Amino acid sequence: MASVPSLAATVHQHLADALASAVPSASGADPLLRRSDRADFQANGLLALAKRLKGNPRELAAQVVERLPADDGVLASVEVSGPGFLNITVTDRALLDTLAARAADDRLGVPYAPDPGTTVIDYSQPNVAKEMHVGHLRSTVIGDAIVRLLEYRGETVVRRHHIGDWGTQFGMLIQYLIEHPHELDHESDSAGTGAAAGAGAVGGEEGEAAMARLNRLYRASRALFDSDEEFKARARDRVVDLQAGDERTLALWHKIVDESKIYFQAVYELLDVEVRDEDVVGESAYNDDLMRVVKDLEESGVAVRSEGALCVFFDDVKGPDGKPTPLIVQKSNGGFGYAATDLAAIRDRVGRLGADTLLYVVDARQALHFRMVFETARRAGWLPQDTARQLAFGTVLGKDGKPFKTREGESVRLVDLLGSAVERAAAVVREKAGKTGELTEEEIERRAAEVGIGAVKYADLSTSLTRDYVFDLDRMVSLNGDTSVYLQYAHARIRSILRKAEGTAGPVPHPELALAPAERALGLHLDEFAETLASVAETYEPHRLAAYLYQLASLYTAFYDQCPVLKAEGGPAMVENRLFLCDLTARTLRQGMTLLGIRTPERL
Ligand code: ARG
Repeated sequence: MASVPSLAATVHQHLADALASAVPSASGADPLLRRSDRADFQANGLLALAKRLKGNPRELAAQVVERLPADDGVLASVEVSGPGFLNITVTDRALLDTLAARAADDRLGVPYAPDPGTTVIDYSQPNVAKEMHVGHLRSTVIGDAIVRLLEYRGETVVRRHHIGDWGTQFGMLIQYLIEHPHELDHESDSAGTGAAAGAGAVGGEEGEAAMARLNRLYRASRALFDSDEEFKARARDRVVDLQAGDERTLALWHKIVDESKIYFQAVYELLDVEVRDEDVVGESAYNDDLMRVVKDLEESGVAVRSEGALCVFFDDVKGPDGKPTPLIVQKSNGGFGYAATDLAAIRDRVGRLGADTLLYVVDARQALHFRMVFETARRAGWLPQDTARQLAFGTVLGKDGKPFKTREGESVRLVDLLGSAVERAAAVVREKAGKTGELTEEEIERRAAEVGIGAVKYADLSTSLTRDYVFDLDRMVSLNGDTSVYLQYAHARIRSILRKAEGTAGPVPHPELALAPAERALGLHLDEFAETLASVAETYEPHRLAAYLYQLASLYTAFYDQCPVLKAEGGPAMVENRLFLCDLTARTLRQGMTLLGIRTPERL
C-alpha cells in the first residue's frame, strides 16, 4: 500500500508553500517544524529567515499565516507567538484520519527508502576455537537490528560474518590433533553430555559439548606449544602446510571450524538471532586474493617495503615515539595478517557484491585499524569515498566501571551472561504471573527466555553505540523504567484488553469524536513512527528507535490512566475509538520491537 504522509509532513508542506508564496526568494527555506508542548507543533525557522532578510520576524510569521490554506481540514489553529514562532494545532479529525490510514496498512504506513541500494554489513564475527564473549554480544545484537531495519526499508542487505578462522594458532591446533587423533572425538568427552551440565542447560547441550572439546584442545596444545620447542617447530611447519592447501591439514582445519560453528549456532539460538551458514564468510575465504592485493598495492606504490614488510604509511598516524605507525599488509616472513584479509574483503564486497555501502559493526578499539584499512583501499581505488563506515561500539562494563570480567579476570562467557539474564527474568515473570494466575509453568519458562534475552538486547540497543554501559541485570529486568520488560508488559496489557473486548467491541476509528489530551499525545506520537525509522536507518542509531518505543509505552500508560477504554464514558463509539488507539499502539510497539530483534509475547 502507499505510504501515509505524517501530519508533520503535511503541516511542513503547508508552511513551506505559504513561505514560498509570501517571500518567493525564500523558497526552499526550512520552517523548522518540531513537536511542541505548547501546541502540537512549533515552527522556529522564521526567526533566522527574517533576520537574514533583515525583516521583522513577527511580521513575516503573520504573512505566512495569512497564506496558509483556510480549511483543508488539517490545521485547527496557527498562532504567532513570542519573537516570531508559530504554534500549530491540528484537528482531531485529521489526526484520526491519518492514524486510520496507518492502521489500514500492513506496514503501518511506513514507506520504503526512496533509493535503496546494496549494503554489505560485517557483524557478529566470533573467533574459531574460542568462546563467544561479551564483546561479541554487542556486535551481534547491533548488527542484527540494523539488518532488520535496512531490510524493512527495502535495502538489499548482504550479511557477512567475518569470523576469525585463519592464522598461526591453527598450526598449533592441527598439529596437536595429528599427534592426538582422538582429541576432538565425542566419545572422549570425560563426562559425556554431563560436560554440558550447568551452563549447558542454556547454551544447548550439543553446543556446550563442542566448546568443551575445543577448550580442551586449545589448552592442551597451548601447553605443549609453550613447553616443547620441537612441537613448536612442527606447529610452525603445519601453518605452512595449511597455507599450501595440504589435504589432510585442511581436513582437520575444517573439523575445528565445524565444531566451532556448532557452538556459535547454539549461542545464536539462545540469543534468538538468525545467522545463516552462507553468510559466514570468514577470514580464510579471502586466502586466494591476498597475493593479488599485495601485488596491486606494491605496483601502484600505495604500499612500500620497509624492513621486509609491506607497509602503508599515513601522515597522521604515529606511535608514542613520534615515528609513523604503518598498516602492515604482509609481514617480513611473507605471512598475511588481519589487514590483508580486510583489504581483500573490501575488494570483494565493492567489486563483486556491488555494495554501495559497507558497514562494520566492530568494537571502537579497532577504530585505527579500520581508518587505515579504508584509507588504503581508497588510495588503491577499490573503495569510493564515503562508502565504508565502522559502526564502532563502546565497551560493556562490570559494576566496578571496568571492562566486564569474571572474578578470575577472564572475559565473561556470553552464554553465562545470557543464562543469568534468563534466570533473573524467570523470577520477575513468575512473581507477576503469581498475582494474576494467568500463566502456566511452561509459559513462564518460555516468557522468561523472551523477557531475559529481550532485556539484554534492549539494554544494549537503547544505549547509543559509542557509549560504554554497565551490565546491570537488576536494572535490565526492572518493570519500571526504560527496559524491554516495561515495553513487553505494555504490549501484553493492550493485547489483553483487546481480547477482553472481543465479541462486544473492536478497534474502529471514529474521526468525528473529540479527543482527550492523552489521546492526542499518544496519536501524534504514533504518527511519528515512519519518520523515526527513516532517521534510524540514515544514522544507524538503533537507540533512537528504542527511545521512540519507550516514549510510546509511556504515553500509552498515561492514556490508559486517564481514558477508560472498555468503560469509556462516551458510549460505544468512544469504546471502539479507544480500542483503535490501543490496537495501533500494540502493532507499532510490536513492529518496533521486532526490528530491534525483541519478542513481544501476547501474554505476560
Ligand atoms: N574477529 C574479530 C574479533 O573478534 C572481529 C572481526 C571484525 N571484522 C572485520 N572485518 N575485521 O575481534
